[in-house]
Parts: sequence; C-alpha cells; structure tokens
Amino acid sequence: MPSATESIREILTTQPSAAGIFHRFDIDLCSQADLSLERACQELQLSIDQVLEKLADAEAQERGGLTVDPAILSLSRLVQHIVRVHHQRVRQDLPRLAELAQKLADKRSDRAPELAQVAELVERLRAEMVAHIQKEEQVLFPFIADMDQKSIVAYPPADPCFRSIAHPILMMEQEHESADHIVAELVRLTHHFEPPSWACPTHIALFSGLRDLEADLRQHVHLENDILFPRAIQRESELNARN
Ligand SMILES: [Fe+2]
Ligand SMILES: [Fe+2]
Repeated sequence: MPSATESIREILTTQPSAAGIFHRFDIDLCSQADLSLERACQELQLSIDQVLEKLADAEAQERGGLTVDPAILSLSRLVQHIVRVHHQRVRQDLPRLAELAQKLADKRSDRAPELAQVAELVERLRAEMVAHIQKEEQVLFPFIADMDQKSIVAYPPADPCFRSIAHPILMMEQEHESADHIVAELVRLTHHFEPPSWACPTHIALFSGLRDLEADLRQHVHLENDILFPRAIQRESELNARN
C-alpha cells in the first residue's frame, strides 16, 4: 500500500491503477512526478487521507476482481461479474488512456514518431470497446440472463430480435477479434509496453496502464468466448429441446 512520503513516480511504478486515481484528483503526472504524495496533495489542497483511501480501494479492487471462480457462477451471476468488473474497467480506463496517449503523442512524437500511431490505436480501441460493451449490455446479456431464469413454458421469448443466440454471439466474437488485432499492434509498437530509458512519468503511466488493460481484456474475452457464450448456446439448445 502506498504511503504519504512516497513520490508520485514511485507510487506509479508499483501500482498501475494509481494513474487513474491521480487523474481523478488532478495530480499532474509530469510536473508533480517527483513530489511526495503529501506535498502534491498540499499544493492542490487535497485531503491526503482521502487520496490514500482511494489508492487502497483501487489496489484492493485490482486483486478482488481476479478471485471469482467462473465455474461456480450461474449465467446471470457471470454476466453481472463481467459487467461490474470488466465493463467498468473499459469505461473507466480507456477514455483516460486515450487522453494520456494523445497528450504524450503531442509532446513526444518528434522523438518517437510511433507514439502518434499508439494514440490513434488507443482511441480506436476505446471507440470500438465502448460500442461493443453497450451492445452486450443492451441486447445480448439481458437475453442470456433472462434465459437463465426461464421455465420451459416461457421459452422462446415472445419477441426475440434474433432467431438464435448464436448469431449475436458470433458478432461479439468477431468484435473481440478486432480488439485483439488492435492490442497486438499496440504490443508490437510499444515493444510489449516497455518504456524507453528517457520516458517521462506520463509515458510510464501510459505503458503500465496499457499493460494492465491488456491483461484485463484478455481475462474479459476469455470469460465471454470460452465460458459464457458456450454455456449460453448450450442452455438455449436445452430449452429448445424441451419445447
Ligand atoms: Fe464484455
Ligand atoms: Fe465482449
């Protein structure tokens, strides 16, 4: 857990989720990088206890998201878990990372021209993923959660907007592939998110944030492609067989 005497730079190095908390409190990753957390809070007239509490929460949330065993969850609980942990992460982190990537590209692309491309790709990933999770939450996930509760007599639903759940699932899997291509290109351009020796704190925060996001996205897509979707297709065929 970070302490008040550690510098902003030291905290960022050990806790990638700190970048999001600093952003929320307007702590500048460049001009305040070498100040202790206590000093940075004094400059902005922030309560140090409140910032430390948010940092501890973010750290706990990072660890907490990984402890669920998807095998023991029902379809609707699994949907809830994906939305609460992984969709929340997309909504919280991708706009912040896109903003950070653009800021870095504006400042450093004379020295590292690939940063302009990194900024474009992060923005594309943000736009695609935000639209993608909206489709899941508005169309596919309510249908899956509903199917989980349905009895034989209530299935199929009166007005489904698709003939089989396999169709929207196929579309979601294609969108996962597109996100995967963008991430693979980011990994290549950033040499596996390894910042160069001359990197400033914004650069370090962006790369560690992207590395973190990549790991979260991998888990997110794994839960959907390998667990939720096959189980939903199986549930649909069981319900159809009983009708
Ligand atoms: Fe999702
Ligand atoms: Fe998805």
